[in-house]
Amino acid sequence: MLNNRNILLCVSGGIAVYKACALTSKLVQAGANVKVIMTESACQFVSPLTFQALSRHEVYTDTFKEQNPSVISHIDAADWADLIIVAPATANVIGKLANGLADDMLTTTLLASEAPVWIAPAMNVHMYDHPAVKRNISVLYQDGFRFIEPSEGYLACGYVGKGRLEEPENIVKLAESHFSEETNAPLEGKHVVITAGPTREPVDPVRFFTNKSTGKMGYAAAEAAISLGARVTLISGPVSIDPPKGLHELISVQTAADMREAVLSVFDSSDIVIKTAAVADFTPKSVSDHKMKKKDGSLVIELKRTGDILKELGRKKQRQILVGFAAETQDVEHYARKKLDTKNLDMIVANNVKTAGAGFGADTNLVTFFFKDGRRRELPIMSKFDVSLEIFREIVAFSEQSVERS
Ligand code: CTP
Repeated sequence: MLNNRNILLCVSGGIAVYKACALTSKLVQAGANVKVIMTESACQFVSPLTFQALSRHEVYTDTFKEQNPSVISHIDAADWADLIIVAPATANVIGKLANGLADDMLTTTLLASEAPVWIAPAMNVHMYDHPAVKRNISVLYQDGFRFIEPSEGYLACGYVGKGRLEEPENIVKLAESHFSEETNAPLEGKHVVITAGPTREPVDPVRFFTNKSTGKMGYAAAEAAISLGARVTLISGPVSIDPPKGLHELISVQTAADMREAVLSVFDSSDIVIKTAAVADFTPKSVSDHKMKKKDGSLVIELKRTGDILKELGRKKQRQILVGFAAETQDVEHYARKKLDTKNLDMIVANNVKTAGAGFGADTNLVTFFFKDGRRRELPIMSKFDVSLEIFREIVAFSEQSVERS
């Protein structure tokens, strides 16, 4: 996968620079052409000569040291790269990139490049948790940068926590998966069923119970699945947004009962089911044939439970991967894990709908993934389309792992 791919490795100044040496070596061994840019601080930790010997290319350290008069070196490096990896990425470099600052070879090249950029942060756990760093990471996510999250463990400063540069062999694997994602659609041949929007539970011919769901999350998930090559069936409650182009099938429904019927009709042929829909848990016990007339005093409408569609799928599932959503207003992790467990899901996407930018109707979402194996992954605020891409990347990763195991 990496054969003859041009990878530009941008190294900024943290103790994890020593791991960037191993990364250079592993990328070269995997067949990639690797060129390295180092910041001045990175050179305090390891000499450029080490990277030169490992990459067999001269290392860039200074924007104004123009080695070849026929080109401008930062533009040349920017255009040369098929993929840029910033590892380790310090809080300083992340801050500069988020703000468009370009005062050295590394940052000028990044600003000049149209290549995809992966950032692998490495820093002290409190620095990584600092609101300014989180804000900068979130800005970069929205600008289309991808992150290789740091792992947890012993940090050079003596703390134990999140902030260790991801291991070089894992970064190489991610680079390989990046190129395989680029060359073939990872969901090709997969039938993805997505439910979206609210349901409407009628009271009489002119009234109904519903909720605030707009369908934006589910429609973004459908668009993302199509872009990754899937055959997509979208089962949607009443919404006022246009369906994405390239759908295999759109099934429009009104009530929770209609949604259940539609989902069950396609479940056997599905490979992946993503249930973003906000399904009513209760529906009126009886629906009046005529418009109900107002009377003095209060009105009582008796409701009965609807079926839990996802729980039913959890009981029926064979090869299918099931992903649920949990929109909560308190104790998010507790309720999300409970739903993951009781509905027999592979993964649940949880959010606190009271948080700014994460509620109904927003174009963005702020979610945490919880997995069957106990793992959790918190994402920064990002567009609903990007959240969806991350969901499918997780699904592809655990499908590949289960194929490897079997
Ligand atoms: N869901 C479903 N059928 C229902 C209710 C919910 O398939 N009748 C699915 C939703 O599409 C979502 C997940 O279950 O993927 C969680 O939905 P949510 O409304 O958050 O949870 P509930 O199970 O209804 O629990 P509660 O109302 O207690 O929060």
